[in-house]
Amino acid sequence: MSEISLQVDGKQVTVEEGMTILQAARSVGVAIPTLCDHEKLAPYGACRLCTVEADAHGRTNLIAACQHPVEKDLVIRTRTEQLDRIRKVLLEQMLAHAPDSEQIVALAQIYGADPNRFEKDANFCILCGLCVRYCAEIKQKHAVGFFDRGAKREINFIPEIAVRECWDCKECFPLCPTSALQAAYVLTEALMSPPEPVAKGCGGCGG
Ligand code: FES
Repeated sequence: MSEISLQVDGKQVTVEEGMTILQAARSVGVAIPTLCDHEKLAPYGACRLCTVEADAHGRTNLIAACQHPVEKDLVIRTRTEQLDRIRKVLLEQMLAHAPDSEQIVALAQIYGADPNRFEKDANFCILCGLCVRYCAEIKQKHAVGFFDRGAKREINFIPEIAVRECWDCKECFPLCPTSALQAAYVLTEALMSPPEPVAKGCGGCGG
């Protein structure tokens, strides 16, 4: 496979063709914030935190480093005023959904995100899709999926599959950057195990 040279934050980087900008940056110790990237999963581009500035062919574009493959002579900047502003707003939106997520709170401190900027809508899911993709791509079980569209979009377990596959797996739990997934599973489990019927008749209570 041929090699590609580019520049990341002023550092000259040479990596194999096909690698992403995120991988190229990491190869020279440049950290780019991510929330939906996973080394074993196909790039998805959900959180947009990895957005970087890329100069090529006389133009500057904003691109997702986790999705975009390296190109010859690209000039990448991973931390600028504009990028900091973008990440700040993205994190403020995420904090409205998942105010207690340790990962998000830590990033919010770095980028000066205000946890109270947007009205709270604490459903705890930031739709990063890590659980959905892990279950599909690695486990090939498809026990958790996206439902609905737009503002109503959410992740949930598919009870008929979850009842067979999830109880001794739960490998997706530690991937979740918020506590949404565990909560969704507890709910699904409750739906999968209907309460015991109440015994008819009750000596001494008049029933
Ligand atoms: Fe690139 Fe989330 S890590 S979009």
